[in-house]
Amino acid sequence: MTTLTQAFDHWIRSDFVTLNDTLEAAYWQQQDKANVVGVEDQVKQQLLNEGQQHIQALLAEGNTDEGFDNAFDLLGNVGLYMAACRRHELTEPSREQYSPLKEASALAMHIGASIGVTPRFATAHLTTHNRAVDGVYKRFTSHPAEQLFIDYNTRAILAYKRAAECLLKIQPLGISHPMTPVLLNQVKEGLLDVIRSNQCLFEQLDTDAFFYVVRPYYKPYRVGKEVYRGANAGDFAGINVIDMLLGLCQANDVNYAQMLVDKFLYMMPEDQATLRECMRLPNLMDAFVAAAPQHHTSGWYQEAVSAFVQVCKLHGDTAIQHHNQLVEKYIAQPSGDMNTQHLDKVTASGPPLPVLLNQLALLRDKRAAAKREDAFTRFDDLNTLRRSIVKDTQ
Ligand code: HEM
Repeated sequence: MTTLTQAFDHWIRSDFVTLNDTLEAAYWQQQDKANVVGVEDQVKQQLLNEGQQHIQALLAEGNTDEGFDNAFDLLGNVGLYMAACRRHELTEPSREQYSPLKEASALAMHIGASIGVTPRFATAHLTTHNRAVDGVYKRFTSHPAEQLFIDYNTRAILAYKRAAECLLKIQPLGISHPMTPVLLNQVKEGLLDVIRSNQCLFEQLDTDAFFYVVRPYYKPYRVGKEVYRGANAGDFAGINVIDMLLGLCQANDVNYAQMLVDKFLYMMPEDQATLRECMRLPNLMDAFVAAAPQHHTSGWYQEAVSAFVQVCKLHGDTAIQHHNQLVEKYIAQPSGDMNTQHLDKVTASGPPLPVLLNQLALLRDKRAAAKREDAFTRFDDLNTLRRSIVKDTQ
């Protein structure tokens, strides 16, 4: 890290948080908590100017070739600053054609393009790649709801990743290998961890604090001329690895492929490589369906298919939990109560809320292999496998 990078990092971890805290406290006191216009304009200006001074110096320093990790970390810091400017409406993508943050845009595009990621802050910056200093990792505010949200996002992401890694290890072994049920049981453990973590988040996260203080920092913002969608906890490969290797979602399905294409650059390069690889691999559902007629009486088949069906059930449960609990409680319900003038700014990805909710419901149903008249799911195949289990432990 150069001295300038360190100084900026120090500012992001200290004064930046204090300024955001001051602004959040002022917004929170209003009758319309979603309003930011005309509130503490001097503080907003201070945030804008202090950040810009750091960034101007860094831009002048040029490409210091400090390695991937430092470049990615600096991109995250620039991104946190740009996201905060967006949150306080110092920038607003529908109002502008180019980001007024010219130096920040230049630095973000320079770094993003050179390391192969989107030129904005991504989920990894706040979760899996967020270094703690003296016990405190980077965040926008010191509000406990934000820490709770990031803690449980990180836990769930790490647990999904563990599950995905075990599934990938089955590929070279095949479904009849004695280690396959062992690995499938480890996948189950990972998914159960996701469920436990999501349940804690659901029970502990305060709805208003999340909606008015945390979520607004995850909105889309402009870098240069392009608007980049907000970060969401799904921007890692693991969940899609699980979707595709189980066979619940297909890379040649138009909706699913669209989502993959859209998320590639929001992931770490190693995740991009894993996802690409995974898009070419065969899936376990097909393998079990093909093996069932001939092998359903074999011991290996019974053991492996039972574990497989349980894994599918748990993966579906995580998706149902995400949609029916987290999205419903923290996005859909509060949006219903919201002043209509702010409604278009609710989601992190940009589409109108009903459209987004439909997309997420479709994903939930595919992961849960639910019966849908309008979309292909593995409902029938999973039932075939369930029927092939001699003593169903479900
Ligand atoms: C996407 C809400 C926590 C995984 C989304 C989206 C919303 C949302 C609204 C759509 C993108 C957008 O924002 O525009 C929430 C809420 C949460 C939460 C309100 C908690 C309060 C989590 C957690 C995970 C997760 C803990 C676990 C890793 C995903 C994934 C996607 C996503 C994978 C991408 C779409 C998909 O593949 O399902 N989330 N989320 N979310 N979220 Fe969450």
